[in-house]
Amino acid sequence: MSLRVSATTQTPADGDADTLAIGVFEGESVAHDVADGTLGALVDSGEAKGRFRHLAVTHAAGARWLLVGLGRREDFDAERARLAAAAAHGRARELGTRTLCWELPHHVGDDIAAGLVEGTVLAAYRFDRYKAAQADEPVGLEALVVSAHDDVTAPVAEAAVVAAAQNAARDLQNMPANDLTPVALGDRALALADEVAGLTAQVHGRDFLLERRMGAFAAVAQGSDVEPALIVLRYHGTGAGGPVLGLVGKAVTFDTGGISLKPSAKMHDMKFDMSGGAAVIEAMGAIARLDLPVEVVAVVGATENMPSGHAMRPGDIVTASDGTTIEINNTDAEGRLVLADCLVHARDLGAERLVDIATLTGAIVTALGSTYAGLMATGNEWAQLVEEAGVASGEPVWRLPLHPEYAELVKGRYADVTNAVEARKAGSITAAEFLKRFAADVPWAHVDMAGTGWDGGRAYAPNGGTGFGVRLLVQIARALA
Ligand code: BES
Ligand code: MN
Ligand code: ZN
Repeated sequence: MSLRVSATTQTPADGDADTLAIGVFEGESVAHDVADGTLGALVDSGEAKGRFRHLAVTHAAGARWLLVGLGRREDFDAERARLAAAAAHGRARELGTRTLCWELPHHVGDDIAAGLVEGTVLAAYRFDRYKAAQADEPVGLEALVVSAHDDVTAPVAEAAVVAAAQNAARDLQNMPANDLTPVALGDRALALADEVAGLTAQVHGRDFLLERRMGAFAAVAQGSDVEPALIVLRYHGTGAGGPVLGLVGKAVTFDTGGISLKPSAKMHDMKFDMSGGAAVIEAMGAIARLDLPVEVVAVVGATENMPSGHAMRPGDIVTASDGTTIEINNTDAEGRLVLADCLVHARDLGAERLVDIATLTGAIVTALGSTYAGLMATGNEWAQLVEEAGVASGEPVWRLPLHPEYAELVKGRYADVTNAVEARKAGSITAAEFLKRFAADVPWAHVDMAGTGWDGGRAYAPNGGTGFGVRLLVQIARALA
């Protein structure tokens, strides 16, 4: 059941929420105290504090109040609002809260209202559909109200759409690979297109890959007995006038490594190797629900990467749909093979700006951990737009360089390129240099989310799929609109 989210200009105590959350900045008093001064007294006594994420609970004027430390006003931003909201949600949940009303602090922007909504909706996410119902599980929050002096209906409603999309991406991520097959992911795209006005979807199977001579994508898919899916989503917003945005996602629903088999420890996490594709699909849903004035085409390559008697072999040479020949030197470098044909297809469908997003390399986990995703891009303007979208969305990306010397490393011995560079240097960048040729002359940004996709540890999405990428991609579409 999803959380109902709304905005009001009523003061918190006038609504029907059972818990009222009030932020306290360091060195500031409570903005609206109750008549007998209970809230201010709680701050004065030190039981409630402005210290970031400090929590205090009291009952006054017939309601339950949650005083939430917001830290210093000058440090407070949308990300801190998400983290504070997650902390408040945790306590509210323990208290059995059904309707929570957050009082928006004075003199903050719409981004803070959005952050409070996102933090709450994301923190309220649970993935328990495979578990028997527990009698002692709290029912959980049913409604969130943001109370503000000014009308914040629009930012609150938009944030609710984006956060719900991010939770939907987490559902896809968290589903096991036996249930979330490539076809099941395609079905999700079709269902979304059915549900959301202005969004259309098509799902192509193995025959299409072979017909279109997508030899790189098809090589990955050939090892698996389940049908691959090339998922295409399109959205043409009213008033769209800018360049056509192309979103490309890697959706390897399970990556065993193929014949270059991965070690079995942690292999189960490779159900998350479809995270880029999930982000693209759900971001498209959000972009269309928000009616953004942009034109977007999305291409998601979904397949398993399995070892079998019909799997690709190390040493095989395949031809991508643009004619590039690729030597497969490690069947575990499958993501770039899938993306190569998807990037070409997105260009064929008219993309004039490209963003691909993928759990592409272990090297990016080593380099950036779970905080930043890697960004590698052509075109400084385009790179900057993506970087700024990362900051604005709270899904930051850190740019790594491309260089002709790196490009040199991906040249093949027997074919145009190799999918795996023998000298394991700059693994995330050589992967990007491989992809770059398939983007050709279209400004292109590659987001490597292998470190930020799951178990990221952020308070509002601590474990399992994070839904990373949904907010970033929506923000990119906004910036282009
Ligand atoms: N899906 C993996 C990347 C990955 C690894 C994501 C660990 C998250 C955690 C990708 O398909 C892969 O296996 N990449 C290889 C490439 C190498 C063989 C050139 C890698 O990074 O080791
Ligand atoms: Mn792999
Ligand atoms: Zn992979």
